[in-house]
Amino acid sequence: PTGLLADALGRPLRDLRISVTDRCNFRCSYCMPKQVFDKQYEFLPHSDLLSFEEITRMARVFVAHGVQKLRLTGGEPLLRRHIEALIEMLSEIRTPEGLPLDLTLTTNGSLLARKAASLKAAGLQRVTVSLDGLDDAVFQRMNDVGFPVADVLAGIEAAAQAGLGPIKVNMVVKRGSNEQEILPMARHFRGSGVTLRFIEYMDVGASNGWRMDEVLPSSEVLARLRQEFELQPLSASVSGETAERWSYADGQGEIGLISSVTQAFCGDCNRARLSTEGKLYTCLFAHRGHDLRALLRGGASDAELSGAIGLLWGARSDRYSQLRASGAAELGNGERRVEMHYIGG
Ligand code: GTP
Ligand code: 5AD
Ligand code: SF4
Ligand code: SF4
Repeated sequence: PTGLLADALGRPLRDLRISVTDRCNFRCSYCMPKQVFDKQYEFLPHSDLLSFEEITRMARVFVAHGVQKLRLTGGEPLLRRHIEALIEMLSEIRTPEGLPLDLTLTTNGSLLARKAASLKAAGLQRVTVSLDGLDDAVFQRMNDVGFPVADVLAGIEAAAQAGLGPIKVNMVVKRGSNEQEILPMARHFRGSGVTLRFIEYMDVGASNGWRMDEVLPSSEVLARLRQEFELQPLSASVSGETAERWSYADGQGEIGLISSVTQAFCGDCNRARLSTEGKLYTCLFAHRGHDLRALLRGGASDAELSGAIGLLWGARSDRYSQLRASGAAELGNGERRVEMHYIGG
């Protein structure tokens, strides 16, 4: 029977995150710093990318194994041409119980004002938008391409209008860079129906020059919020959730804290990641992926694909954030960790 898949630590497979492009029109310092991702940088050629048919076929096999949520990521997923066509194909997939999937997408918002209506029409249910500040100077320094805040806010507004909710906004907090934006962001989104989530700056990839002293722990974010707002803890809405949720005592909505560095959430991590070129990563911090595209293009049947995924998930023992916290993670064995722009959030 499918749907009963568990990894070596007993964790089920529920969430598949699919990266549809390794390109992005932003150069966030914590993800694609300009010094590394410059004009010389070689992105994947189109023939290496999984086609929409290949992605959909893979997604069906994952859903048969228990996946209930699909998230499209990148790079910037809205840069992939005709992404609406992929969304249409994915929106037709049903779980073995006949239920529709939770179909969502993480975007930097830059193209959202233009695309919100067509994404909704194609069958997308909701979006998560990244936004690291409300002050233009701060935000433009974070995205490093001079992209204005107003255009992202217009994208969020368009998504709300189109019914792509409930909308979440992700803010990566970097000490000394955008920490002064925590309260303005909270004030802005409070009462708007949008859930703002603060993400601890993580040591993903090998390019961002991560330093612990640039991490602002979520406990400190919470303390700062509590100086101005009364907040109450909420219990997790689903198992495997990344964010710790808090609600405003006066009913003006909720916020989330994603604390991968100071409070690892590997214990019930049910996420698999499919890279742009069809490699399966069983952890955001993995060094290596498993080449499913080779199987696909080598003529494997659905049953063979399913068997391969079952074996890979069954052998999974990843818990990088937990090991890092306990000081046990092997940090420098010479192999580069996969980059976030390639594997998506
Ligand atoms: P929803 O709450 O259903 O919208 O999904 P989600 O919590 O998975 O949200 P989202 O995809 O927006 O993830 C939020 C951020 O959390 C990501 O951008 C990452 O920075 C971080 N994150 C998500 N999954 C993991 C994970 O498995 N490990 C680590 N360390 N960080 C993660
Ligand atoms: N640390 C924390 N979050 C990150 N993201 C990208 N790189 C990092 C990092 N080093 C976030 C983005 C976006 C999501 C896809 O991942 O801001 O919200
Ligand atoms: Fe692009 Fe998102 Fe990475 Fe920023 S965090 S560079 S918007 S993929
Ligand atoms: Fe899952 Fe790896 Fe993140 Fe832990 S570090 S929550 S195992 S993706």
